[in-house]
Amino acid sequence: MDHIDHSRKGMEGTSIVRNEVIEERHREAWNSLLGIDAQKNQLLAWAALSLRAGSLDRNATAVNRLALVEGPPGTGKTSLARNLGAPLSTIAESAVRVIEFASHEAMSGEHGRTQREVHRILTETVPHLAGADITVLVVDEVEALAIHRGQVSLEANPVDVHRTTDAAITALDLLADICPNVVTVMTTNFPEIVDSALRSRTDVTVAIPLPTKEAVQEIIQSTLKAWSREFPDLKAVIDHPSISSVSEELAAKGIDARQSRKFVLDVLSSDLELASDPRRLTATHLGQAAQRWKGIQ
Ligand SMILES: Nc1ncnc2c1ncn2[C@@H]1O[C@H](COP(=O)(O)OP(=O)(O)O)[C@@H](O)[C@H]1O
Ligand SMILES: [Mg+2]
Repeated sequence: MDHIDHSRKGMEGTSIVRNEVIEERHREAWNSLLGIDAQKNQLLAWAALSLRAGSLDRNATAVNRLALVEGPPGTGKTSLARNLGAPLSTIAESAVRVIEFASHEAMSGEHGRTQREVHRILTETVPHLAGADITVLVVDEVEALAIHRGQVSLEANPVDVHRTTDAAITALDLLADICPNVVTVMTTNFPEIVDSALRSRTDVTVAIPLPTKEAVQEIIQSTLKAWSREFPDLKAVIDHPSISSVSEELAAKGIDARQSRKFVLDVLSSDLELASDPRRLTATHLGQAAQRWKGIQ
């Protein structure tokens, strides 16, 4: 407990939870996001174009270098934002940095403190960390910062919530003015509560849906492929014709991409025999598990 408190203290004063240069592992993570190619291309095209427009007048071009990725939990929004720098680095033929701002960490009960913190982070800390590098700034779960004015709960002080939203919008505008090398990607699981003034400032909104049955199949097969590196016998399961009905059943039950990735592990770990020898996994095990599958327990 002592240790945890101490390490949290070390992070005090900064809500920056990530500041790194894009490398191979980011590219692998980007490539492992399946079934959302159109959305990946849309986000990448926007990022590349808005960087090209960096030297142009923002008012005339209407480029704010601000994107919103929205959709249900577990569909890859955070991963998309964190790893966008990988393909961007290829297009820009340059190193790319990723910085992540955890907006909920900046929230403080104290009057005025949150607004000052948000402003300081976005207009001082981020420009300082980015320097001259092409940078993707990730603002994950932005609804913490910019709650729609109509949706303020009765417990929250509405004046404070409005001020925080205003501070975020002003700071993002200022950041776009001073850092033509920074593109900002916000994510949310709750698009309906993201403030409309913030929403209208975005250059692009990328909506990520739950995976189709084809996408579920692709994810399960890619997971089996990873397992088969250690257990080559599993290759027979990857191409088994019944994988398609397994995927169809799971997709019909509304499985998300994260749960699709975890499905093979869930099946293996739900049975002591399979857990002790994963080579025994058959398409029948997957079929039975798909029938039993009831969503997040
Ligand atoms: N489209 C996808 N394809 C494959 N795996 C995915 C996909 N989306 C999510 N995942 C898996 O789920 C994990 C969590 O995804 P995350 O980006 O946190 O989703 P979100 O931010 O939408 O809740 C990822 O690390 C990845 O393993
Ligand atoms: Mg997320």
